[in-house]
This record gives sequence, structure tokens and C-alpha cells, in this order.
Amino acid sequence: MSGSVLVTGGAGYIGTHICVALIEAGFTVSVLDNYYNSNPVSLDRVAHITGQSLARIQGDVRDHKTLSDALQQSGATAVIHCAGLKAVSESVQEPLHYYDHNVVGTLRLLEAMAQCQVKTLIFSSSATVYGNPQFLPLTEEHPLAPTNPYGHSKLMVEKMLRDVFTADPSWRIGMLRYFNPVGAHPSGLIGEDPQGLPNNLLPFVAQVAIGRHPVLNIWGDDYDTPDGTGVRDYVHVTDLAKGHLCALQQLAASKTGHCTAINLGTGTGYSVLDVVRAFEQASGQSVPYRIMPRRPGDVATCFASPQLAQQLLGWQAQQDLLAMCTDAWRWQSDNPQGYTNAL
Ligand code: WQD
Repeated sequence: MSGSVLVTGGAGYIGTHICVALIEAGFTVSVLDNYYNSNPVSLDRVAHITGQSLARIQGDVRDHKTLSDALQQSGATAVIHCAGLKAVSESVQEPLHYYDHNVVGTLRLLEAMAQCQVKTLIFSSSATVYGNPQFLPLTEEHPLAPTNPYGHSKLMVEKMLRDVFTADPSWRIGMLRYFNPVGAHPSGLIGEDPQGLPNNLLPFVAQVAIGRHPVLNIWGDDYDTPDGTGVRDYVHVTDLAKGHLCALQQLAASKTGHCTAINLGTGTGYSVLDVVRAFEQASGQSVPYRIMPRRPGDVATCFASPQLAQQLLGWQAQQDLLAMCTDAWRWQSDNPQGYTNAL
């Protein structure tokens, strides 16, 4: 399989891992990124891992000319759209910022793609479109009822994509609903590098283990779960990246148009304390913690049914929690300050 793919947000945590998977599968990859939430050093690392340089366009997906130039310069026949904002708590404070980046950005991208006759798109969606689980495991048929502007923005884009497909069924669209991506490439050269204090569990645990914070706050241990702490479906970011490759290959090979939402999760839930224990085992470091009140908006338990991904894409996550923590620790210990001050 080959071809040219434009990855928006390709310098970010998920985007870099997707670029590695695509290049290693023989694709020519170009990246469009405004480096608002990422560091271009990450793309030097992708080139080092793959031994291939990749074209980079610095710019914003909300700028139509930037997008048209990127599509024309890259000769892309498909787009993987990762560019966007993804912090739930920030989205509550800055909803319009999230609709601008996530919804308007995707609208501009679709306009430019249609103009350039590029109609194969993989969209980075999220399990947050489900909102509070009414049943578990979460299948793609679960009601869509997000509870925050971040989740609303992802659902709005999914609806926009379905309308585009209804108007023109020649589009091939995969909407991949990520559960909790964690871990890092086994080289330790690329990984999660949150700006400021991490909202998410794994990067915070890693920063406690490396000594950047004295203690982990565990937001609630009184949930209806085996040990009282929140349960989530953590998926290794390299497995997630392979899911994009499978989706791209599936869409490109299809004789007809598509617009399909697919969960990317393992189907297994782990609690916060499970993660702490696994990280201590993986790193040999202790992760001190203290129990704090629940975080508003959190649900007790959330994990995927991975059946449809297996059925349609032939994809199944391969790596367990210990591997996720081992690879996350290697990245963190080799890059204590992330990409900042990195060579
Ligand atoms: C996981 C568990 C917390 C931090 C997020 C966002 C969104 C989405 C998936 C892309 C929960 C607990 C966390 C901490 C803690 N990504 N926790 N102390 O909230 O499931 O979802 O990731 O779409 O980014 O929706 O992930 O890592 O924030 O929390 O106790 O310092 O860890 O309460 O139970 P979440 P998370």
C-alpha cells in the first residue's frame, strides 16, 4: 500500500505516532501543524525513527489558503485530521475557542479537500461523544450525548461529516473514536508532552515518577468500581496509530464511499490504582498519591467494545497496561522536560 497522506496536527502526540506508522508502511507523509500545542522537534524525531524526512507545512487548519497549498504541495490523496484542541476542562472555560479550532477548522479542511478533489478522510474523534455510559462496553450504537464543549465539538464534526457524505457519497470517511491513548513509541524518542500541568492521568503519573511533582491527586475513590477509583480503557498510542493505518487501507481499498464511526479501544478497563501500580512496576519508582474529591464531569467507568474495529478493520490492540507504562516511562525518563530544550 502506498500513496501520499497529509496529517494535520502531525507534530502532536497522536499525530507523530501516526506518521511513524504510515511511513513504515510505505506512505509518503506530509504534516500540517501550527505548533500551538506541539513542538517541531517531534518531527525531527519521526525522521530519525523512520530514516525518512517528511514534508512540513507550518500553518493553521482554519486558513483556507494554507490548506489548499498543503493539499496541492503534498499531492495527498488522503488526509488524517488530528489538528484540534482536546482538553475537556479547558473546553468548559473556552467553548468558542474549541468550536473555532475543532469545528471551523474541520469545515475549512473539508472545503479545501472538496476543491482539490481529495475525498478520503480519517477523523480523530473521541469516546467523549458518548457522554455518561448508559451501558458497557460502549458500542458505536450507544447514544451520543457529550457533556462538555470538547465532546460537543467532536460530535458536531461527526454530524458535519455525515452530511457531507449524504450530499456526496463518493467520500470515504472514517471517524475513529479514541478511548484513552497512553504510552509512547518504544524508541523513547516521541511521546506525550503536555503544555503546562497535565490534565490526563498517565502524563501526570509519569511526571510524579520523574520527580516533577511530589504527589498524584486521585480524583475520588468512592466510585462504584472494584477499588473505588475511576476505570478507563487505556490504549497504547502505537496500537492506536496502527488503527489509523488499518482504517486508511480499508477506506482506500473500498470500491464505494463510506462514513463510519469506529471505536479504538482495547475493551479492557483499568482503575487509577491499577495504573499507579503498573507504572511503579514499570519504572521502579514510587508514585505517591493522595485521595481528593471527585473531578466534576468524570464518570465512574468507561471502556470500549472493540468488535467493530476488529470486524471492519481487522484491528485489535495488542499491548497491555504494563507495556503502556514501560514505554511511557522510557519516553519520560529520556526526556524529563519533553521536547523543551531537546536537541
Ligand atoms: C482518567 C482517570 C480521572 C488525572 C480524557 C479526556 C480526553 C480524551 C480521553 C481524547 C479518571 C483520573 C486523572 C489525575 C486522576 N482524549 N485522574 N488524577 O477524563 O477519561 O478522558 O482522555 O479524546 O482527553 O476526555 O482521562 O486521563 O483525565 O482521567 O485521578 O491527575 O484518571 O478521574 O478517572 P479521561 P484522564
